[in-house]
Amino acid sequence: MLIRTGHNGFVHPQGSEITPQSAYEGRRRMLRTLAAGAAGATLAGWAARDARAAVERPGKLAALPGAPSQVAGANTMEAPTSYADASQYNNYYEFGLDKADPARNAHTLKTTPWSIKVEGLVAKPRTFGLEELLKLSAQEERIYRLRCVEGWSMVIPWVGYSLAQLLRQVQPLGSAKYVEFVTLADKNQMPGLRSSVLDWPYTEGLRLDEAMHPLTLLAFGMYGEVLPPQNGAPVRLVVPWKYGFKSAKSIVAIRLTDKQPGTAWNKAARNEYGFYSNVNPDVPHPRWSQATERRIGEGGLFAKKRKTLLFNGYGDQVASMYAGMDLKQQF
Ligand code: MTE
Repeated sequence: MLIRTGHNGFVHPQGSEITPQSAYEGRRRMLRTLAAGAAGATLAGWAARDARAAVERPGKLAALPGAPSQVAGANTMEAPTSYADASQYNNYYEFGLDKADPARNAHTLKTTPWSIKVEGLVAKPRTFGLEELLKLSAQEERIYRLRCVEGWSMVIPWVGYSLAQLLRQVQPLGSAKYVEFVTLADKNQMPGLRSSVLDWPYTEGLRLDEAMHPLTLLAFGMYGEVLPPQNGAPVRLVVPWKYGFKSAKSIVAIRLTDKQPGTAWNKAARNEYGFYSNVNPDVPHPRWSQATERRIGEGGLFAKKRKTLLFNGYGDQVASMYAGMDLKQQF
């Protein structure tokens, strides 16, 4: 993105808490071995629970527990990033451009009352209050990898449910092909709007089939609590096979359309940030490679980088949506 990050200028976060990984690594390794066997599905859920217990819970925000998700691919076996890193190393430009700015500034975000207007090419347009949204479907916990286009990644236990559950309520028309997500833009709450780095409000978009995919999550919480403001409270998107900027924070409207909507980063730099933005190690960003990534919290600047996986490792679930497409052209 704008950003001195990318590769050379990467600055590692100085999280004060680090997940005590050694405490459960051995047990996780054993579970992983067992999970490879016949009882894989059950044990995978077990292992996910084990990982959750090991993350230091902040306990400052309202509890929002979720049952382990049954959606295929929704629970990675990898160790979650510490809560401190996940909540203090953020991109939320409405609250500043530095990674530490959102945690510092986003306390001004007013999350109640809140509603999402769902409109456009739907049979039943409707505005949903936050309370209604929270109860629309059972809350699930899903442990997703999040790969940022800047070359870093985290593993975060989110709480929410498939966006499809909300979209079904409004009955998309046959003519609907895309979904646009509009996020809050309020100068009184968001100091970052004074900067013209992006065309506010921050908007994002998905093809309708991507939006309806069970892995596409409408998230209300993380680490068993409601979202902190800097992570996109009170409700955001998480699309785990796409670069992190597709996962719009603090959503206020969802519009179904027949034309591909403009998106904040695509409007800012068309040749750098495509509409699809599927994680793809073979399609470099014009200014840096996307072949590897740094996992936040993993050993600082000198830690070995990880190989980035096509579709961020969610290919079994999502690759069929892109069959026949040239992923280098439609990046
Ligand atoms: N949503 C809004 N409204 N504004 C933003 O600046 N940043 C995006 C995305 N959603 C952004 C946003 C980017 S670049 C990333 S990597 C993720 O949020 C970061 O989410 P996280 O801070 O929860 O890790």
